[in-house]
Amino acid sequence: EMPLDRWLAGYIRDVPDHPRPGVLFKDYSALLAEPRAFAAAVDFLAELCSRRRATKVAGLEARGFLLGTPVAVRCELGFVPVRKKGKLPGRTLSRAYELEYGSDVIEIQQDALGPRDRVIVLDDVLATGGTALAAASLIAETGAQVVSVAVLLELGALSGRRRMERDLAGVPLDALITA
Ligand code: PRP
Ligand code: MG
Repeated sequence: EMPLDRWLAGYIRDVPDHPRPGVLFKDYSALLAEPRAFAAAVDFLAELCSRRRATKVAGLEARGFLLGTPVAVRCELGFVPVRKKGKLPGRTLSRAYELEYGSDVIEIQQDALGPRDRVIVLDDVLATGGTALAAASLIAETGAQVVSVAVLLELGALSGRRRMERDLAGVPLDALITA
């Protein structure tokens, strides 16, 4: 019997030089297309929500939405979208951040979370950690507590984990697959 992480790693494809030369893109479309693999990944992440006693799932646009929404339904928690700038209506909080290939701004609706919330930040990949750290800092600004950053895949060579330990001390990084 193959371990869960090795089995699911088989559905993640390396695409060199996408979306820019020099970037190795991790494509998990094949995992989404295989219902048993997708369900196993969702079940693992939903189990983490319970273990961390989360009250909300915050998914990061865009690829974090694909995993975050089924996880929220599975663990019976509300879903909060963290979006790229200009997409969310009403009063928002913003953060600029750097990622592996460029910089961007993400936003959250100001009233989406409050001091009583325990939030699990969900995304597909942790590379440099720039995206997850920006999301965590936005969530902290609402008064909510970040109880985990959970990803399908952690890329060890880009040292997002060390950056998280430095800038988000005490928040666990939960990765299904480490590469
Ligand atoms: C990718 C990926 C993570 C982030 C990881 O998102 O989905 O969100 O980069 O990189 P980091 O740890 O260095 O921040 P991207 O912004 O490319 O866009 P998408 O999710 O909208 O496709
Ligand atoms: Mg992303």
